[in-house]
Amino acid sequence: MSANKVQFIYENKLIELENPDPNQTILNFIREELKKTGTKEGCAEGGCGACTIVLGELENKKIKYKAINSCISFTPTLHGKQLIVVENLVSKNGSYHPVQEAMAKYHASQCGFCTPGFVMSIFAMYKNKNNKNEENIKDAISGNLCRCTGYRPIIDAARSLKKKNSYDDFDRNNSKIIKLLKKINNKNIIIKHKNKKYFAPKTVNELKKIIQQNPNPNFLSGGTDLSLIVTKNRQEIKNIIYLNNIKELNFIKIINNEINIGATTPLIQVEQFILKYYPDFNNILRRYGSVQIRNVGTIGGNIATASPIGDTLPLLLSLNTRILIQAKKRNKEIFLKDFFIGYRKTRLKTGEFIKSIKIPIYKNNKFKAYKISKRFDDDISSVCASFNFRVKNQRIEDVFIAFGGMSEIPKRAVKCEKFLLNSKFSEDIFEKAKNLLKKDFNPIDDMRASKQYRLEVAQNLLLKFFLETKSNKLIRLS
Ligand SMILES: Cc1cc2nc3c(=O)[nH]c(=O)nc-3n(C[C@H](O)[C@H](O)[C@H](O)COP(=O)(O)OP(=O)(O)OC[C@H]3O[C@@H](n4cnc5c(N)ncnc54)[C@H](O)[C@@H]3O)c2cc1C
Ligand code: FES
Ligand code: FES
Repeated sequence: MSANKVQFIYENKLIELENPDPNQTILNFIREELKKTGTKEGCAEGGCGACTIVLGELENKKIKYKAINSCISFTPTLHGKQLIVVENLVSKNGSYHPVQEAMAKYHASQCGFCTPGFVMSIFAMYKNKNNKNEENIKDAISGNLCRCTGYRPIIDAARSLKKKNSYDDFDRNNSKIIKLLKKINNKNIIIKHKNKKYFAPKTVNELKKIIQQNPNPNFLSGGTDLSLIVTKNRQEIKNIIYLNNIKELNFIKIINNEINIGATTPLIQVEQFILKYYPDFNNILRRYGSVQIRNVGTIGGNIATASPIGDTLPLLLSLNTRILIQAKKRNKEIFLKDFFIGYRKTRLKTGEFIKSIKIPIYKNNKFKAYKISKRFDDDISSVCASFNFRVKNQRIEDVFIAFGGMSEIPKRAVKCEKFLLNSKFSEDIFEKAKNLLKKDFNPIDDMRASKQYRLEVAQNLLLKFFLETKSNKLIRLS
């Protein structure tokens, strides 16, 4: 069963769009078709937050509110969700929402261009009752840039909401919205719009059938990379298969002492789950893009982009992760270290997709990861390093070292690893091992960092790992 209509909830009503343009961004839909111009376009690439909207999604019978960048999300992905834009926050009787009141009271706006985006990011946090600690407040607005007010009054406004009762029009309409969300059809979506096609299957079996009929598709997951072909390169994507309606691909569970993660699991969920096993993995994810990016960007998407500066990749490499690939007829499992074959090139053949990944749980190892970038939040790494060691009686029994930003693919430091294996866990050994990184990597000069800087940073991070592990103390700015 399939449908050519995208259905979602807006202003407490079920909206249907027949065969919408699969390349239209939600931002353009809001501004040009809904004629709501509160949501702004700043960068059109997910970096400034001016276009932030909130999507309500049913999770465990409750509505979860997710801030996203509408400039890099396509309209058909609204299917099954509640769309909330800044104009919807004003209550029926005309009074402002507590978030808007707080922004005014604390003088948190000047020119106002960024303000709707901040309001929506803070609104999502407030509705999810996630505004109790300072870290979360800063995290919630890390994807929003303001060029005139400054952040202090905005943070003050967000802080003041801790004491407020969050009951609002959205709570009053809660059961109505849940009923409407349940009414939305549960069919595969097939859209044909002029020369463009969009498929959103509900199961892996349906997905396989669609791939057979469309052998050269563009898989769309969170879209935080793919959508830029439309918004920045100004090109069309003609044949999209959206993976994120497939529940089978969205899971995290422990099986046989391994963390199994479905490919379409959003990074924000990985971030929360992995804290218990690998705190530094959580630390790196908290600095990955912004909440808006991590709410939609997926682990499968980050792996498939094969970007040399993909932040999860060195971490997954140093944890000796395996990936499960759906090939034409069967599944195949390979080590991530064998997956990347060149700049943004992988072993995936046309029509093959990543189903899940398996991360071993090393109970007796030391795992640490470091991201070096010009800004702390919402910035791309110059170098990202990850170390996973087992040390017994001062001997290194097991060693995995991986770096991003040091070569055209994220890569293990095999020469350095070989030298360290079975060596003494001592400072002079690490001083010697540092030099071998020059043999493992020949990084490039670019606008993020010079070759020399990257090499020195990589060497220093290896030593930092040793010093932190030896002293059992963190040498961190945060
Ligand atoms: C503002 C901004 C900030 C960012 N910050 C960071 C950052 O800090 N660190 C970082 O590493 N990256 C960052 N990125 C890059 C981006 O978030 C990642 O590449 C992201 O993980 C891609 O995941 P996605 O689900 O959005 O993939 P999509 O954009 O949907 O897809 C990306 C590519 O992977 C393919 N693909 C997706 N899923 C699968 C699958 N299951 N099987 C096979 N192919 C698949 C798609 O066809 C496409 O080619 C940032 C991007 C933006 C816009
Ligand atoms: S317009 Fe800048 S993040 Fe969307
Ligand atoms: S108020 Fe002007 S950019 Fe923020």
